[in-house]
Amino acid sequence: MTAAAPAALPLPLLRRGKVRDVYVVDDRRLLLVASDRLSAFDVVMREPVPDKGAVLTQISAFWFRTLRAASPHHCLASDTEAIVAAMPALAAHRDALAGRAMLVVRTEPVLFECVVRGYLAGSAWKEYRTAGTLAGERLPPGLAESDRCAPAIFSPATKADVGHDENVSFTRVEQGLGPTLAAELRARSLALYTEALAFARERGIIIADTKFEFGLDGNRRLLVIDEVLTPDSSRFWPADRYRPGGPQPSFDKQPVRDYLDALRARGAWNGEAPPPPLPDEVVRSTTERYREIFRRLTGAALEVR
Ligand SMILES: Nc1ncnc2c1ncn2[C@@H]1O[C@H](COP(=O)(O)OP(=O)(O)O)[C@@H](O)[C@H]1O
Ligand SMILES: [Mg+2]
Repeated sequence: MTAAAPAALPLPLLRRGKVRDVYVVDDRRLLLVASDRLSAFDVVMREPVPDKGAVLTQISAFWFRTLRAASPHHCLASDTEAIVAAMPALAAHRDALAGRAMLVVRTEPVLFECVVRGYLAGSAWKEYRTAGTLAGERLPPGLAESDRCAPAIFSPATKADVGHDENVSFTRVEQGLGPTLAAELRARSLALYTEALAFARERGIIIADTKFEFGLDGNRRLLVIDEVLTPDSSRFWPADRYRPGGPQPSFDKQPVRDYLDALRARGAWNGEAPPPPLPDEVVRSTTERYREIFRRLTGAALEVR
């Protein structure tokens, strides 16, 4: 369980995100290392969830390889030995990389999050319930929570450095980036979601919504960056338990959510940081959930050291 501690690699640290540490390799490349940190109800838990970082990195790598709509993207290598071969200075740090690192093209990130929603959940359900719209577009009346909305809707958000991301209209994206780039972001995001939705559905998983990030490389080419279609960036629902009309069980964090809800119900936690300690059993079953998603989607075994 190396993950909660920062992976001390002999490379300059560009940024430490909520989940990933971003290292500079050179002007053209970055190394992303996903930790095992888990946040629930916007609070980061103290206990690492073993294998979670490896699941996030390897699911992203799988989608980059598998989906036609994912290209062009930023991934250069995710296999630990390939990364070490490209950067021999990391040979002594295999354990810190083990399945959780990705060598990527360094880009200038686009400052909007590209959210796609195919089902009414979370803030989309809230907007629809109060205004009858999603990302400002009017939807048919009478939809229930978790109902499908087809075709899927591009629902961009600002990328807030601190605090919560804010949903914005497509017009705001056009004003910020120009109509050509805005249209390209929307088309690429919808194509990715549509291809992934069909793929996952055959494996018993509904991708209710997801968030993509894009960046411009040195030739001003638009690349898919960051993580893609992971349980951290998406709502994954088990299809066999799908019952619209209320919230759906989430595939990954449900054991943690259930535990925290029970604490809140009896007044043992106020829902804010610092988080309460998680029992071993809750951590273990959460690891099992992440591994299960990986198995179901990819049909492969997880690489962990
Ligand atoms: N190819 C890339 N070029 C530049 N920045 C990237 C690239 N891929 C990912 N990033 C950035 O690296 C960070 C990943 O760390 P993460 O823990 O996901 O951060 P956050 O807390 O912002 O979600 C994000 O800020 C993301 O925009
Ligand atoms: Mg992120």
